[in-house]
Parts: sequence; structure tokens; C-alpha cells
Amino acid sequence: MRVLVVGGGGREHALAWAIARSPRCEALFCAPGNAGTAALGENLAISDGDIEGLVRAALERRVDLVVVGPEAPLASGLVDALQDAGVRAFGPTAAAARIESSKWFAKEVMTAAGAPQGGGELFESARAAHKWIEMLGTDALPVVKADGLAAGKGVVVPATIDEAHAAIEELIGISGRLVLEDRLGGREISAMAIVAGGVVSPLPLSCDYKRIGEGDSGRNTGGMGVYSPPGFVADAAGLFRAIHEPVVAEMAARGAPFAGCLYGGVMVEGDAARVFEFNCRFGDPEAQALLPLLDGDLLAALAGESSEPLAFRQEASVAVVMASGGYPGSYATGARISGLDDVDDDVVVFHAGTALDEEGAVVTAGGRVLAVAATASSIAEARERAYANVARIHFEGAYWRRDIALRELSG
Ligand SMILES: Nc1ncnc2c1ncn2[C@@H]1O[C@H](COP(=O)(O)OP(=O)(O)O)[C@@H](O)[C@H]1O
Ligand SMILES: [Mg+2]
Repeated sequence: MRVLVVGGGGREHALAWAIARSPRCEALFCAPGNAGTAALGENLAISDGDIEGLVRAALERRVDLVVVGPEAPLASGLVDALQDAGVRAFGPTAAAARIESSKWFAKEVMTAAGAPQGGGELFESARAAHKWIEMLGTDALPVVKADGLAAGKGVVVPATIDEAHAAIEELIGISGRLVLEDRLGGREISAMAIVAGGVVSPLPLSCDYKRIGEGDSGRNTGGMGVYSPPGFVADAAGLFRAIHEPVVAEMAARGAPFAGCLYGGVMVEGDAARVFEFNCRFGDPEAQALLPLLDGDLLAALAGESSEPLAFRQEASVAVVMASGGYPGSYATGARISGLDDVDDDVVVFHAGTALDEEGAVVTAGGRVLAVAATASSIAEARERAYANVARIHFEGAYWRRDIALRELSG
């Protein structure tokens, strides 16, 4: 099979890495890719938003399967355009991608599917939302969500009623619609499943760290680290049966069948697991932590050519993101990265914001630069190995959180 991976982050390097290991993979292209994917296949200088350019490249290179990493091209209809051109793709159509791009659509689907979630209301004016907040009062402050893609800036969990009112004013502009959702208690997990060829294939559960600072302080980022599996979920298989399977069935019944990675953001409180959002693609950096646990053929699963769920080793995994100092604010690029060849054989370093300079050396080219992923029989050991290998990699201004997976060890 000739495969094109769309995107250029750590998730796409991890997908390319796992696809390249498949015996079915004959040729691999990445658009635009990064220095990591350049070592696995051919990088094409096409941005992930250039739908026409991507379709043309897929046809010219006789690509059999396009695997789309990021959400924006999915919401803008890349998969629809590929299908119209007769090219097979892993990822949802724009209609199915609404499960991520509209929080309210996701709630309607979950209601119809009977999937567990928090209560919520849709508002089409700021005035009505303000009135609702006043009516609920300080004891039941809801979470304020813009009903549209906002690159991680569309949700506020207010601490005071004034913050709730301010969030309404700030977020109403994104799409003119707001969802006010009951605040859920508990601990957050990522529950991803590959949906292709009628098979719902769960990945191991994981927990990601979104804030830049230790102890979950400071600004939101694309993700600073992940561990798997969370010890506090008793029945992972039951969770996919209660959430992903009925939601996939409901999407098909609505005439918007979902194919791609269905990623549930789930709050777990005791035995209760409630969805607070869906994403329609692999998590980043969740993919970097979970794909090293693969024990099957990812490409066969993505192509819908496997009738069995994909197998994963039942081990622990920890991935630590190394970022450019200053991220998620402004940061420098072009710093040489050393030590990439000094990591242990079974530790994987996935590239995100990296590029090759004129001399072919790997340099920094983004905010999140690398993810160092280690697997082991326990989270403690995986964590220790990930950090031991992070310490061998150097670039000017490198920053990483020291506390990834720590809360799982302290209980
Ligand atoms: N109903 C909720 N109750 C409590 N926390 C929530 C709720 N919804 C979202 N959150 C918190 O806000 C964060 C961002 O919300 P999410 O819906 O995932 O938005 P985004 O589109 O920005 O990913 C979540 O990771 C979670 O920590
Ligand atoms: Mg989210």
C-alpha cells in the first residue's frame, strides 16, 4: 500500500513510524512532515490546509490510503475531497467531523445514543446565557463552551460567577453559539478508538498533561506529556461499549457514518464515566505514548482491512514532551538538537517541531519539539526510563515538565 500521512507534528511522526512497520506499507509520504518523518519516507512540501494540493499529490503519487492527523483539514472537508477524487482516506468526512467541531452536535448524538454525559443547554445569544448563569447561581456554575473549533481556546471552567459572565462575552464571538454544560467532577482520561471497516478498535486509555507548568499550573498547551494506563479505571472495555459503540451506531443512523479515530474526553468519578467532548482524530501526544505499545498491524486497521480489534501490549507507557523555552508564548527556533542517537534502543523519540538545516542537522522549528516515549512493565519504570533518556537530549532553551505520571505513583 502507498500511504500519505497529512500533518507535521509529533502525532503524525508516530503514525508514520507505526505505518512504516507494517508489512503492507510499500511507500510512505508525509505532508508536510518534519525531520523525523523525513527519515521514514518522503516529505512533501504541502501544508495540511491545502486541500487541492493534497488531493493532487495523492493522485500523482498513486496513494492508496491517506491518513489525516490534524482536525482542521478534517473539518474543512479534506476526506470528502479525497473521496470525490476516488482516493481512500482514514478520517471522518466534514459531516462526521462535526462531532468535534460542534460541541452541541456531539451532545445531540450522545443523547440519541444514550451515551453518558453531563447535562447542557444551547444558547444563541449572550443575553440568554447570562440569564441562565444568574438563574443557576454560584453553587452550580456551568462550564462555558464555544460551539465551534477554537484551537483549545473555546472552553472556560469558571471559578466565579463574574468569570462565567466574562467567558460568555469572550466566547460568543467564535460561532455565535454557546453550550453551558454541567460541571463534572472526577479525573480526566483520553479514550481513543480506531473506527474503520465496521470495527471499533480501542486503544489503551491514557492521561495527558495540558498545562505548561508543573502541578498543572500556567497556560494551556497542545500537551506536555502522557501516561498509560490510568490505574483508576476498572472497566476500560465497558467504557468503549457504553460510549464509542453506540455513538458510532448513531452517527451511521444519521447518515454521517464515522470513520477515523474517535477520541472521547471522559471524566471518571468512581464507577461513573461521562463524556465532556469528542475529538475526531488521534490525540497529540497520546498517539506518541500509545503507538509504541502496538502489537499488530496499524495500517491494516486504518485501511479497514482487519476484522479483529488491533492488539496492544498490556504494558505501561510514558511520553515526555520537550519544548522550546517560552512556549506556549514566543520562543526561538533553529537551535541544533544533539543526543538523538544516544537514546536506548527501545525508547522512541518522536519529532514535532523539528527541521533539517542546510547541513542536514536536526534543528528546532516549533514550540513542542520532541516527545520521548518509553514503555515498561510499570508506570514507575516507564517514567524513569523516559526521563533518563530526555536527559541525554540537548538543545538551547529546552523545557520539559518534571512531573509527568507522578500523580499516578503518589495515588
Ligand atoms: N463538563 C465539564 N466539567 C468539568 N470540566 C470540564 C468540562 N468540560 C470541559 N472541562 C475541562 O475543560 C477542558 C477543555 O474542554 P474541552 O471540551 O476538552 O475543550 P477543547 O475543545 O478546548 O479541547 C477539559 O480538558 C476539561 O479539563
Ligand atoms: Mg479537549
